[in-house]
Amino acid sequence: MASDSLTITDNRTDRTYTLPIEDGTVRAMDLRQIKTGPEDFGLMTYDPAFTNTASCRSGITFIDGERGILEYRGYPIEVLAEHCTFLEVAYLLLFGELPNETGLKNWVHEITYHTMLHETTKKFMGGFRYDAHPMTMLVSTVAALATVYPEAKNIHDPENRLLQIKRLIGKMPTIAAMSYRHNLGFPYIYPDNDLSYTENFMNMLWKMVGPKYVANPVLSRALDVLFILHADHEQNCSTNTMRSVGSSQADPYVATAAAAAALSGPLHGGANEEVLKMLDEIGSKQNVAAYIQKVKNGHEKLMGFGHRVYKNYDPRAKIIKWTADRVFEVTGRNPKLEIALELERIALEDEYFVKRKLYPNVDFYSGIIYQALGFKPAMFTALFAIPRTVGWLAQWQEMVVDAEQKIARPRQIYTGQRTRRFLPMEERQAAGAMKK
Ligand code: SDX
Repeated sequence: MASDSLTITDNRTDRTYTLPIEDGTVRAMDLRQIKTGPEDFGLMTYDPAFTNTASCRSGITFIDGERGILEYRGYPIEVLAEHCTFLEVAYLLLFGELPNETGLKNWVHEITYHTMLHETTKKFMGGFRYDAHPMTMLVSTVAALATVYPEAKNIHDPENRLLQIKRLIGKMPTIAAMSYRHNLGFPYIYPDNDLSYTENFMNMLWKMVGPKYVANPVLSRALDVLFILHADHEQNCSTNTMRSVGSSQADPYVATAAAAAALSGPLHGGANEEVLKMLDEIGSKQNVAAYIQKVKNGHEKLMGFGHRVYKNYDPRAKIIKWTADRVFEVTGRNPKLEIALELERIALEDEYFVKRKLYPNVDFYSGIIYQALGFKPAMFTALFAIPRTVGWLAQWQEMVVDAEQKIARPRQIYTGQRTRRFLPMEERQAAGAMKK
């Protein structure tokens, strides 16, 4: 009877080892027994960028990349996007179950009453140049919140953890809106507790001199759906950062700031801003074929395409495309959509992309909607960071209470020189100037 094990023969010693297979993995530490002699450290795995390495056990988000499936706590993303609000999904991600009516009401109240920021934040935000990038202001300001809540370091106290989680979820839209208003030179707008999470975000962004901000319900629902789609995505680059920084028992504010910093990269959450720059560079539908050729020649990347896990259409991109149509019914059609649709049409037929299984990802269409909603591209990644804060915190919390987890500390393959003779200064001059 086949057993869940792997038998390996080390051809260097002709010794055979049998390693248990658990959940489709072998434990890297089980390889350390494979040695050529007592002095040998033993085998390690080598996996740059962790392309085939499970770093944790998690019950939060399931992705089947081949089939284009995404589920939060077992619920298909399509169902949640259709029936839930973002805060309802935030509750699901953090606590594992959809809230009942009372639970949701209390949860919404809790988050609503944590949207205010300490007044010192205005001085901190005021120190940035007028044109500072919103993501850099967000990363810095989230880290600075650790100075306002020093008790957040007590990460093993579940009540304290939950309080900081509520604060971060409540305050992220306020910080993002402040960075947006800072760029425009507009006065900051305080949260309005009569409004929903997403309507209040729109209020803090766009309220001008009128007595009360009233959000367009179609647009606020579209933003809520976009927040749901961006809430979590298992062990992506920024979540891996959150878990790694959190594994040193740093507080959740600096860990969230680090995760947001990782998200800001153009290959990750910064891609939605890059997509708009790419569409602007292409300029018209007629130029798409020429741009595709540049991508195939390796001179450009097709931003918003490709994914480490999805080797099929990103299910979020499908929902975003549907949401775009709802938004354009209100705002008018974004002309960039025609260029994006032509890019997708050509790419999905072209062997270069088909062979590499490159499909539109979550970032390909989101920027077009954000632009139609009135956001500048520099704001797009901050719009990703707001909902992903929930995913980062759910994953952080799962890591903190996971008995198997400890401080993250990978190994390396050393390629440098060993045990060199020290060079006194006079000999160094003879050795010539520092090598560049
Ligand atoms: C997000 O991990 C997550 O879950 C992330 C995310 C989340 O919700 O957290 O889903 C959000 O970050 C989505 C991805 C946004 N990034 C982009 O759209 C940037 C463009 N995409 C690529 O840079 C790339 O596809 C990545 C970074 C997303 C994935 O890169 P991988 O898995 O490291 O794949 P790779 O670079 O090894 O590419 C494999 C091949 C290469 O060609 P060959 O060397 O085999 O000839 O595909 C090519 C790549 O050159 N390729 C692309 C391409 N993406 C990959 N070629 C052109 N355009 C692209 N976009």
